[in-house]
Amino acid sequence: MSQHVARYKVFIRLFIIVALTLIAILAWFSFMNADRTPTATENSRALIGGHFELVNQLGKPVTEKDFLGKYMLVYFGYTYCPDVCPMDLQIMADAFNDLTPEQQDKINLVFVTVDPERDTVETMAEYVSFFSEKLIGLTGTVEQINNIKKAYRVYAAKADDSPDYLVDHTAYTYLMDKDGTFLQHFNHGENAEEMAVKIASFMNK
Ligand code: NI
Repeated sequence: MSQHVARYKVFIRLFIIVALTLIAILAWFSFMNADRTPTATENSRALIGGHFELVNQLGKPVTEKDFLGKYMLVYFGYTYCPDVCPMDLQIMADAFNDLTPEQQDKINLVFVTVDPERDTVETMAEYVSFFSEKLIGLTGTVEQINNIKKAYRVYAAKADDSPDYLVDHTAYTYLMDKDGTFLQHFNHGENAEEMAVKIASFMNK
């Protein structure tokens, strides 16, 4: 083998090593820069909802499994709430009444208290009946309510220490899918007809 050919082979080897190194660096950069951040929708679907153990207005223990197979409109508030909760629960009831009977069969209406110390099973039973015979009221121990608040990313806290305290709380109505995953939320004071149209559009997908 001539010296010339040997040098040529060394050069080819070096060239291959450099080329492979460059390819590896490029691959690493494109991997690091790839947008692997979940979209807002994927994020919320994963973040809102999940396991809970509570008691309904009939005193029966329930979990999230009792609500699977149907859509769910769920609102968090408290029965002593002077205005925000009654308004939003009335909107929920009105939106439900705007649905066809077939659509109504496919959805649960749920009100979860964020004030379990005052909202007993009996208090919940009387309260939900003001809005709709279909409205399910859920209460539980302070720990159980804290767990569902965490699962649904709900904020609620006593506004003061008086016996007739108010509770500051988020006022979203969540629409959950039949498999218990989050679909979308409605803000406080939503238009009931628009809410019904939106719910129906999910059902028709
Ligand atoms: Ni309220």
